Amino acid sequence: MRVVNVGMLGLGTVGTGVVRLLAENSSIIEEKLGARLILKRIAVRDTKKARDIGDGGWEITSDIDSVIADPGISIIVELIGGYSPAREYVLAAIQNGKNVVTANKALLAFHGDEIYAAAERAQVEVRYEAAVAGGIPVLSAIKGNMCANRFWTVLGILNGTCNYILTRMTREGADFAAALKKAQELGYAEADPTFDIEGIDTAHKLCLLVSLCFGTRIDFKEIHTEGISSVSSLDIDYAARCGYRIKLLAIGKRHGNLVEARVQPAMVPMDDPLAAIDGVYNAVRITGDYAGTVMFSGRGAGMAPTSSAVVGDLVAVARNILTGRGRRIAPLGFLDGKIATLPVKPVGDTISKYYLRFSVADRPGILARIAGALGSNQVSVKSAIQTSKRVGEAVPLVIVTHEAMERDVRKAIDMVESLGITSQRVAMLRIEDDLA
Ligand SMILES: NC(=O)c1ccc[n+]([C@@H]2O[C@H](COP(=O)([O-])OP(=O)(O)OC[C@H]3O[C@@H](n4cnc5c(N)ncnc54)[C@H](OP(=O)(O)O)[C@@H]3O)[C@@H](O)[C@H]2O)c1
Repeated sequence: MRVVNVGMLGLGTVGTGVVRLLAENSSIIEEKLGARLILKRIAVRDTKKARDIGDGGWEITSDIDSVIADPGISIIVELIGGYSPAREYVLAAIQNGKNVVTANKALLAFHGDEIYAAAERAQVEVRYEAAVAGGIPVLSAIKGNMCANRFWTVLGILNGTCNYILTRMTREGADFAAALKKAQELGYAEADPTFDIEGIDTAHKLCLLVSLCFGTRIDFKEIHTEGISSVSSLDIDYAARCGYRIKLLAIGKRHGNLVEARVQPAMVPMDDPLAAIDGVYNAVRITGDYAGTVMFSGRGAGMAPTSSAVVGDLVAVARNILTGRGRRIAPLGFLDGKIATLPVKPVGDTISKYYLRFSVADRPGILARIAGALGSNQVSVKSAIQTSKRVGEAVPLVIVTHEAMERDVRKAIDMVESLGITSQRVAMLRIEDDLA
């Protein structure tokens, strides 16, 4: 039986899953590949750490160079995570002529251009299916069978931690802090959850999806990113009363030669299939001009689903090696010279209905002053709900607007906040009635 040797950097959650999957499913992989994938060397930080992976004949080392320079290894799997030293290791592996498989969205969102250019020069493959939505093979679909489409929209629920927290807040009426604590107890959230709850992880993934779908580079800093830490159980409650669920959405759209890319908690109509994606599940919905709208959902993280995506990439690269065809597909699906740099639509230009929650004193005349501030900024009120449910000294006043430009809504909010009638920052959520 022919053999393809693999070197791996990192043996944490995903690395351990890859080792187990390659061992447990070796026969099914061999039946499909006609060759054996052999994990030859694995680099870690601490070689003394106990690891529950049995003995498969590999060498575990802290000497990275001995892995990425091994002439017998043709594929390097990077599962260290983060920007550096992962960037340096990946570039060194490419310079050594190795194909690379990674699950590292942060690395590619920031250093993708540099890595893809190096891979083109070396004519090696870079695959990263596991970097977006874990076990869901959405990148393969975009680059593969759906490649003949022009894509106009890509939407995603891409972070299981946020989706778990919002689901718990919806189902149990928990507040944000309690739902986050539960997520941490269950291992769904890191001890420092900032990257997840502030939307940064979702924005990393959106960056990759936008490039793949629209064939454009996008500067990560240009993605407008908001997280879920300011979503309150009151907002969840009002959303439900109005027929919506709150989800952290990644939204990518192409408008001619302009790209829209934003990550925001938003109200999604309850009858939209995205509203039904609950708990740690992820979903990606893409609209192509010929395929129409296609939605993928499944487990977006965790040892088993993520290692499924990593090993799927390994098999794809190994097939090319075995057939002697070299790389058949550029990392973004488009030929390297065909990637554009389209401008990003300013978030202030977004037109949507808005949900606004004001914490105000229960006094006559307040609603009129708020409506006046909105009206003077071209924002018209569709409906208003005020309850006598007190939060401290204040009562929540909820206003749903007609379609308005975000820039105007923000100006109106600033104006209201300057009137001295609110006791907290105004909560604002977009109502995404018109998702493709
Ligand atoms: N976990 C998931 O569900 C998931 C899902 C999708 C994508 N990903 C991505 O997959 C990648 C790996 O995630 P993970 O959860 O498996 O991470 P992890 O559990 O923290 O494991 C990281 C591994 O990298 C090793 N490492 C760290 N720095 C190193 C260095 N300088 N030199 C050599 N080895 C080093 C660590 O070695 P020691 O073991 O010696 O400490 C550890 O084995 C990340 O890019 C992550 O974003 C993860």
